[in-house]
Amino acid sequence: MWLEKEKKYLIQLFKRQKILIERGDGCYVYDLDGKKYLDLIAGIASINIGHSDEEFVRRVCEQIGKLTHVSNLFYTIPQIQLAERLNEITGMDKFFFCNSGTEAVEAALKFSRKSTKKKKFLAFTNSFHGRTMGALSVTYKEKFRRPFEPLLQDVEFAKFNDPEDFKKKINKDFSAVILELIQGEAGVYLAEKDFVRTISDLRESYGYLIIFDEVQTGFGRTGKWFAKDHYKVQPDIMTMAKAMGNGIPIGCTAVMEEVAKNMEVGDHASTFGGNPLACTASLAVIDIIEKRNLIKNAEKVGNYLKKKLKELSEDVRGLGLLLGFSVRDAFKVVEKCLEKGLLLNATSETNIRIAPPLCITEKEVDLAINVLKEVLET
Ligand SMILES: Cc1ncc(COP(=O)(O)O)c(C=O)c1O
Repeated sequence: MWLEKEKKYLIQLFKRQKILIERGDGCYVYDLDGKKYLDLIAGIASINIGHSDEEFVRRVCEQIGKLTHVSNLFYTIPQIQLAERLNEITGMDKFFFCNSGTEAVEAALKFSRKSTKKKKFLAFTNSFHGRTMGALSVTYKEKFRRPFEPLLQDVEFAKFNDPEDFKKKINKDFSAVILELIQGEAGVYLAEKDFVRTISDLRESYGYLIIFDEVQTGFGRTGKWFAKDHYKVQPDIMTMAKAMGNGIPIGCTAVMEEVAKNMEVGDHASTFGGNPLACTASLAVIDIIEKRNLIKNAEKVGNYLKKKLKELSEDVRGLGLLLGFSVRDAFKVVEKCLEKGLLLNATSETNIRIAPPLCITEKEVDLAINVLKEVLET
């Protein structure tokens, strides 16, 4: 009945798995009949502290009772506290809050143009940065772009992980180079260290900014606070969203002071961005990640899961608890796993992405691997 109504009343934009989820608890979700599923995708790398965490629920509920939103016409404490905390964990200087990943990318592109007074952007093959017009312009996939053209005219794509192609395409006209250190939507592909180093080394002589899109890789997901911490390169601009509010919508564009100093009142804004509810959720996420050592757990259990997956697939990629692996008929595998109580995500016919809550245990990994093994053997 619900699925028929969904078809009747919702614009059919999503290919959903056939499960109606009612509630969640830690690494598990439950459907209407109370059937339990181990959640290995966590709202697409978003539920890093697990579903319905007690402290998270308490702090968010307390804030709802106190104040949810007043707009940026006024000051509120959670927004200022969150900016201070983000400064500690990102090393970035200043922050703008919005409500999603694509909005964070839009702001990054605008800040970059305003700051450099240059127009062009360089992005990479197989990139994904969002669906609004600016973010879509730096997203590679033809299928996503074509129906909505013309997009931004001043975008070029260079080959991901190819420093030579980057050197050929880059020149002094570029305002920014935008890049995912792990291409999540593409199927979990890591940027190689030499490639990132080349982009970083040429930054000064060509005068472009580096934008790291950490929407999918942030908040402990890869076994460090942010993927950039594996590379030891500080971007000029960085975007975040997904896990930032553990499901309460919030995104952020972080910049270094030399970018921030060029921004003026009115250059950009958001009605809901940085409201006390979303910022309280994000402050709780950061505290809980720290208190429960979830970053260490992501590294440890991530390594264990990677090792186990390597017994099932020849091609396993990723860092921490953002992993991808190749299989034949990925959509079918995902469907069969669902029947057996395991939630996964196929990014293509031949690739599955795994991004569980960071509180997952090795025991739960064993459970998941047993289901996967069974499905792959049938
Ligand atoms: C790297 C990256 N950037 C941007 C986005 C867009 O985020 P949102 O769906 O919150 O707009 C995504 C979403 O998957 C992403 O992975």
